[in-house]
Amino acid sequence: MIALGIETSCDDTGLALVEDGRKVLAALVKRQILEHRKFGGVVPEIASRKHLEIINAGLEELLDKAGMSMDEVDRIGVTRGPGLMGSLLVGVTAGRTLGLIYGKPVYGINHLDSHIYVNFIIHPGLRPPFMSLVASGGHCELFYFRDYGKYELLGSTADDAPGEAFDKAAKLLGLPYPGGPEIEKLARRGNPEAFAFTIPRFKEKSLNFSFSGIKTSVACLVKDKRFTLSEKRDLAASFQRSVIRMLAANAFRGCEIKKSDRLVLAGGVVSNRVLAEHFRREGERRGVSVFYPPRELCMDNGIMTAERLFFPGIRKGDFRIEPDLMIAPAGNG
Ligand code: KG4
Ligand code: ZN
Repeated sequence: MIALGIETSCDDTGLALVEDGRKVLAALVKRQILEHRKFGGVVPEIASRKHLEIINAGLEELLDKAGMSMDEVDRIGVTRGPGLMGSLLVGVTAGRTLGLIYGKPVYGINHLDSHIYVNFIIHPGLRPPFMSLVASGGHCELFYFRDYGKYELLGSTADDAPGEAFDKAAKLLGLPYPGGPEIEKLARRGNPEAFAFTIPRFKEKSLNFSFSGIKTSVACLVKDKRFTLSEKRDLAASFQRSVIRMLAANAFRGCEIKKSDRLVLAGGVVSNRVLAEHFRREGERRGVSVFYPPRELCMDNGIMTAERLFFPGIRKGDFRIEPDLMIAPAGNG
């Protein structure tokens, strides 16, 4: 079976053709970073217009790359949310139209699902049940993945998502959007012990997250003070380490509670290799195997949307768009 994946939840137009859930026939991601950078965050209106400009030519390019025609596609998967309303509408409309023209079944795909499912193409032996952490620009969710399509939500963020915290901290340090990769780069030569951040406390047993406090701490530190490059490096490294530790503490506690010896990581923030390495080491220490995608598949892409089509728990024709206004507010307050 050949699946076409269309992903337009935020500012990346991702398209892919995947065969049997195992082989990527062609994939492309058109990023819009430069369009949004000057505004310090994703501007929803610009994002949807760009998707509209890109999507048809992108699809042709994808089919060319694979040397295929739409007739050879068996199923179409399109992200229906969570994401930006206008962006989602472009992808969903494109998918449904292709379905009508070529007589192919179309499935609306949950974006958090696909972040997790991309792990199945990378780690072919991976099977549920496992614990799963999705850490992205709009989300922070800890799931117990009991079976395909059957999850239990154990924790989520009370305020900001971790990617959002990275983006906001980066902005405070004068770094461009998106801030995650910039902080990772700056932190490379910084001392992660230089600044201590308070870890938020929830009721005992809660597996929820909070990142707004640490962002406020960074804001207070940089306020009215000119930081040297070396101090900025230290601040970036300390911030990065605290966010990673907060994520890891809950994820591994979730593993203990559910007696899971497998933990699957997903979402744009996981492209941070310091994070991935910390989880891997911590997993080794605790007897938990940690799975995560390569950097480029942590970020939004069409492969993950196509991959979801190869597993149970989806319904044909389900296009209930799930907008999420938390994602990517322009200007990042
Ligand atoms: O999953 P994603 O591509 O889009 C959403 O669904 O949100 O995630 C984008 C987020 C952005 O906030 C970005 O700053 C963050 O992932 N990110 C990173 C890194 N690369 C991207 N955060 C930390 N370290 C990175 N290397
Ligand atoms: Zn995403």
